[in-house]
Order: sequence, then C-alpha cells, then structure tokens
Amino acid sequence: MRNTICEDLNISDIGKDVNLSGWVDRRRDHGGVIFIDLRDHSGYLQLTFNPEDGNKLFKKAENLRNETVISVTGIITERPTESINENIPTGKIELNVKELKVLNEVKNNLPFPVSIYDDENTKEELRIKYRYLDLRRGKLIKNLKTRHQIIKVARKFLDENGFTEIETPLLTKSTPEGARDFLVPSRLSKGDFFALPQSPQLYKQLLMIGGLNNYYQIAKCFRDEDLRADRQPEFTQLDIEMSFIEEEEIINFNERLIKKIWKDILNIDLINNFPRMTWKEAMDNYGTDRPDTRYEMLLKNVSSIMGDIGFNIFTKTIDSGGEIKCITVKEGNSSISNVRIKPGGDIFKVAQEAGAGGLAFIRVKENDIDTIGAIKNGLNKSKINQLLELTGAESGDLILFGAGPTAIVNQSLDKVRQYLAKELDILKTKNNKWNFLWITDFPMFERNDDENRLEALHHPFCAPKEIKINNENESNHKLESSIAQAYDLVLNGLELGGGSIRIHQSELQKEVLKTVGLSEAEINDKFGFLIEALEMGAPPHGGIAFGLDRIVMLMIGADSIRETIAFPKNQQSKCLLTKAPSIVSKAQLKELEIEITVEE
Ligand code: AMO
Repeated sequence: MRNTICEDLNISDIGKDVNLSGWVDRRRDHGGVIFIDLRDHSGYLQLTFNPEDGNKLFKKAENLRNETVISVTGIITERPTESINENIPTGKIELNVKELKVLNEVKNNLPFPVSIYDDENTKEELRIKYRYLDLRRGKLIKNLKTRHQIIKVARKFLDENGFTEIETPLLTKSTPEGARDFLVPSRLSKGDFFALPQSPQLYKQLLMIGGLNNYYQIAKCFRDEDLRADRQPEFTQLDIEMSFIEEEEIINFNERLIKKIWKDILNIDLINNFPRMTWKEAMDNYGTDRPDTRYEMLLKNVSSIMGDIGFNIFTKTIDSGGEIKCITVKEGNSSISNVRIKPGGDIFKVAQEAGAGGLAFIRVKENDIDTIGAIKNGLNKSKINQLLELTGAESGDLILFGAGPTAIVNQSLDKVRQYLAKELDILKTKNNKWNFLWITDFPMFERNDDENRLEALHHPFCAPKEIKINNENESNHKLESSIAQAYDLVLNGLELGGGSIRIHQSELQKEVLKTVGLSEAEINDKFGFLIEALEMGAPPHGGIAFGLDRIVMLMIGADSIRETIAFPKNQQSKCLLTKAPSIVSKAQLKELEIEITVEE
C-alpha cells in the first residue's frame, strides 16, 4: 500500500513519484489549495491538492476529516520558501497529490484531538480509555520503543553472561510479597483458587534447585494494592536469580547491568561504584529506606536535647519511648511562613497525612531563636547551642520538629522533606541527576502492630546474616532481631529493585516461617513443596528483581509508570478501555459454583 514512509523522504526525492499511506493529521484550506498533513508511524509529510489536478480529487480532499485513513500517490516537490517548516524533517518538501484513496472513514467525533499540533492537556482517564488514539500521537509509542530497547540491552547482557530466560506459571499458588493476591477460580477443582504471581520468587528458586544456574525473566507480576504513580496492579519485573553466589557478587553484577543499560540507552557513563547505605543509616538520616540523596535536609535526632525542656508534647514523646527528630530548611525563614506550618497549612497537611499530629518549629535568627513560647521558655543558651551544633542551623534557617513514635516521626519528616525539596525547587538546582544507592542490612522482620506479629520485611525466603540453627531457643531469639542478606537499589528516592540471598536449608526456612507466625500445618500446606525441594540438594542462591516500568519511567523522565505501559489501569485499578473488571454471565458463575453476594 506504499512504496515509502515519511521518515525516508527528503529534498533528494524531489521529482519522484511516491505512494504513501497514513492518517490525516489536519487539513487547512488556503486560497484554492488544500494542505493536508499526512501522518504515518514514522513522521509527517505535507500533501497539496490543487484544483487543476481535477475537480473530483479536489472535492474528495475537501471532505477529508482528521484521522481518516488514506493512501496517496503523487510527486514530491520543493516547498516555496515562505512555507518551509524547519520543525519537521520533511519541512522543505511536499507531495503534490494526483491520486487519493480513502482506506477508512472516521465515523464518530474524536474524544480529543490527536494531532501533535493540538496537543492540549487531555485528561489521563480519556487517554487511557482511548489508548489507541493516544498511542497514535507518537509520544507513548516513543516511550514504548525506549522500553523495548531497554529490554533488548538487558536480554543481550544477561545472555552474554550465561543467563537463560525462562517463563514461569501465571496460574500458581500465592507467594507472600506483602500485597493481596488476585485470585482465579478453578473450574476443574471446584472451590479452589489459583493466585496470579506477585513475583516469580519461588519458581526462580526452584529453577536454581533444578540446577539451571543463572535465570532471568521479563516477568509479569500482579499485586492487589493501593495504587500510586509508581505502582500498577499488573507490572513487569526484570527478574534475576543466580546460584553459588554471595551478596557482594550479586550487587556488583547487577550494578554492571544497570550501568550497561544507562550507557546504551542514554549514553551516560556511570563511572563510580554506586554508594551503599545500611537500612539503619537510611532510616535514621532520611526516615525512609529509599532516600533521595540528591539533597541534604537530613533528619537529626534531637531527643536528648529537646526531651527535657518542659514542652508537653516532647515530654510525653520521650516518656512513651518515642523520638524527637528535626529537619533544617536552609533560609526557610524567608521562604516559609508560620501559616504554612500551622493547622490548615500545606506543610502541616503533608505531615498530618503521614500520620503526625503536627510540626513544632524554631526560626533561627541573629543571636536568637524565634518560636512558640512553650519551646522557647525551656531553651537556655546551652540547649540552643547544642541544637544549632547538631543541626548545623544558622541565622535565617527554619527547623521543623516531629515528635512521637519513631515510625511516624520518620514517615512524616520524610514526606515533609520530599515535599519541601520540590516546593523550594531544591532539585532543580542539583545537577547530580542519577543518584543510585544500594540499601543493605535490612532487618529480617518488622512488627505488624495490627496483627501483633512479626512479618518479613522483604519476604520470608531471605537468608539472615550469620544465623546457624543448633539450639532452637537461642537461634529463635537471634533470628527475630537478625539482619537479612538483602539489598535494594534506589534511584533518586525511588526503589528500582530489591533482592536477597535466599535460605537454602529447610530447617532455617521453617524457622523463619514460624517466626512470621505460621504453624507447622500452615507451613506444610503453603510451602511444603519448597521445604521438600530444599531437602533435596538446594544450592546456595540469590537474586534480585528490578521494576522494569520504573526503570523506563526514570529514564524517559516521566512522572508515572502509566506512561511506560501500553494499556495501563487507572488509579482505581480499572481498564477503562475494555471496562475490566466486569460482571460475568450467570452460566460462567454456575460452572465455577461461585455465588455473588454483593447487592448491585
Ligand atoms: P519486590 O517486591 O521488592 O521484590 O519487587 C521488586 C521491584 O518491583 C517493583 N514493583 C512494582 N512496580 C510497579 N508496580 C508495583 N505494584 C510494584 N511492586 C513492586 C519495584 C520493586 O523494587 N521477589 C522479590 C525480588 C527478589 O527477592 O528477587 C520481589 O518481588 O521496583
């Protein structure tokens, strides 16, 4: 249907007969000549229709609506100087059309303009619903092509390093990765359900036990959890597992993989080793295990200085075992008003949404401080000096305090820190754009207060450091407070990937599963197959999984992973295009013996 495409045409083609197919991007009628921008997958070309080439052809062109699919034949000519468009590669030429075929009409009104010339702020919900039109605009396709290139680089690198790509089942048994499962009812085994995999975790371990040595997969994962810009219910991991390997080797190997991707896709040389930070350092100084290290504004623990100044909230915090921490906003006195920190203010709201009751503050001024009376009254010269020394605050700076249970203080100051970095444009002035960071030494477990039990911080297959099972009671005690051989890769405040050395001994695996509250019977029921496999010669092994959508998002500079996915779900986990999820027929339900109890 064509002998060339827009991208391949230039001034050297002047005088040639060509045949092109594509869409009407827009039509303009000018003084007896009709101009049409033809768009194909590769670019644009201006078509001209002159009345002297025949009334029938001209009339046909006059009736063309945007997005009509056409095929045209004509002669490439040079554009008059005044109509040269330097913004597109074919801006110096046009096609004088002699023949026009309409391949498909547009029957409905378009929900939004498709042409890049009309690129207005189309609502994202509409863009998802009419994804095929949004794709036609080109920008998304460009993102998907970058995604394709990234996968290609990763595949080549892994292949060259002796990895085999293996597909693992999607209809499977639930693996605890911390989210809810998507369940699939079984027709043949009535009342039973498959779970869609939250990750291929156990299968990749079984592949190691099977002697595969090195595995990878571009793996679809499914998690029913609250959505954010960097989360989709269905997402893709670049999933990796290796045998006879230690933490240091996995980290180094994967660092090489990431550097290769950045080099081949963005031509960026990441020369230095990625810095490392322990989980504890990250939590203490940033309040989060995925710190954005592009800027300072670190959290400082001031419990020992501020705990006994007689300020009620601080006193109560210390009495109940909490912490007082603060961040110092450089020159915050001029940029941040009291109204913004007090109830109703934007900064107050950020802290509140993260669970804090509010924020106390001190404004550092020449030779003095300025704050709410209750704090000021308790601060003598020595306390002020200690505070200034610990925080490094100087005249003009604003100190914001959070007090309460450690987790809430960390969470709220982390959110405030991130919010202010954006608000005050701190990020824009930093040129250090790619701050990779390995977080290591995660605790094996964290307490789930709601359920009053320990749960695995990563997943319960991570191996603890230096734990040997001999005396059961002793080992149990150590296990609960032990550190995992786990690591996360963080980039500019976003978790790109995470992994660990796995447990390869059945006794230890059972102990860990018991520690997270599973009974012997539950262990057998849920993980009997794993325990059994570990007892048949499992090699030491470990791995990692990267969030592929997140890698693409950061590399193309998008705000959401939805810009990297051809057909994403919306924030309510719905596919607006196909209207999934949706009701199914009574017959289908009957076959599965499932009854819907929710009233419409
Ligand atoms: P984890 O749960 O940390 O580890 O997931 C690995 C990476 O997957 C990405 N990710 C997501 N991306 C988009 N939407 C989501 N809902 C979502 N959830 C996670 C993140 C994350 O770092 N089996 C282990 C890996 C291992 O131990 O080897 C796992 O899945 O970038």
